[in-house]
Amino acid sequence: MGTIKIKDDICAVGAQNPTLRIFDVVMCTEYGTTYNAYLLRGSAKTALVETCHASFFDVYLENIRELCAPSDIDYIILNHCEPDHSGSLRRLLELCPRATVICSQAGALYLQHITNLTDLRIQTVKEGDTLDLGGRTLRFLIAPFLHWPDSMFTWSEADGALFSCDFLGAHYCEPYGLDTKTVYPEKYKQALQSYYDAIFGPFPSYVRKGLEKLEGLDIQFACTSHGPVLTKGCLLEYALDRYRDWSQPAAPEKKKIPIFYCSAYGNTGLLAAAIQDVLLSRLPAAAVPLYDINEHDMGFLRGELNASDAFALGSPTFNADAVPPVWELLTHVDAVNCRKKPALVFGSYGWSGEALPNLSARLKGLKMAVYEPEVRARFVPSEAELAAAKEAALDFAKGI
Ligand code: FEO
Repeated sequence: MGTIKIKDDICAVGAQNPTLRIFDVVMCTEYGTTYNAYLLRGSAKTALVETCHASFFDVYLENIRELCAPSDIDYIILNHCEPDHSGSLRRLLELCPRATVICSQAGALYLQHITNLTDLRIQTVKEGDTLDLGGRTLRFLIAPFLHWPDSMFTWSEADGALFSCDFLGAHYCEPYGLDTKTVYPEKYKQALQSYYDAIFGPFPSYVRKGLEKLEGLDIQFACTSHGPVLTKGCLLEYALDRYRDWSQPAAPEKKKIPIFYCSAYGNTGLLAAAIQDVLLSRLPAAAVPLYDINEHDMGFLRGELNASDAFALGSPTFNADAVPPVWELLTHVDAVNCRKKPALVFGSYGWSGEALPNLSARLKGLKMAVYEPEVRARFVPSEAELAAAKEAALDFAKGI
């Protein structure tokens, strides 16, 4: 790709990864991604915003060298220290002996452990601190949980350029790097939403605070760290508007208490149906859908679980544990916003029923309010076991 001029003395020097299909082990990236970084020159100083994924260091370095000798770099600004942005820092610093790393206070802590360097030269910045490059002054806006505690924005008033790192980003890769040259804007929009859902969906109140910080800034360019640079009059307004929409608190609606389960021989399913009957009779205004996990898309179930007011989760016991689809669903829990959520565990078993305590332990680890004891039945639920399940469901409903 080489470098891309954004405007005089601001160039993109990052790397593209168009064939990436899974990011961070869990996130599908149908359109690849980019690891954007930017070189800014003032009359006195040169700054680099972000490094890049360690696997792309050679391309990144070549791009920097197109513009300057790495030894000329005075500052390396890291708006966020996840390794897709900081992964090349250690190697880069070997070539930039005089560079000072600029980051937030939380970022400094992470960088010590990411680089394992004891002589890292770091300058931490607070809200509103500035850095003068000579004719180009950068201001730092601390933006916690967008999407890590360390996150911040860097704003260049003279350029109308916002360096927003992951915020407003997308795992999307086209060759030319600017939204004005995007060939498939609809695909980009899809990628923007997927990225928002995965990265910022758990932090809507912080997104709103981040947007508030940007109000009043005359942003001409949002130089994100993934996907195209967004420009005023092209896709910038679209991205900002969607962030406003997506981060709005959901309108109050009827309570959602989904019941998720797997059932090998229908016995855990019988418990699920008994629990559903009771919840519906006790909370008639609530939605209490039954979901056999194997019959639904995991992305859909993830949304249902994370948007629920409470939920029940059932599994038979195989090999002294819950079955894999149930565990997979739990890997998608929004651990921030599901804290204190009421949860009821149930299941049929043959010998010892280890699935039940194992699931309870995991939900407690996620800080949920787990109903005790779990609802259990040995093989086919007896009348007494079904009655006990209904009693537990009634009691569970009182806590919702
Ligand atoms: Fe693109 Fe949170 O790293």
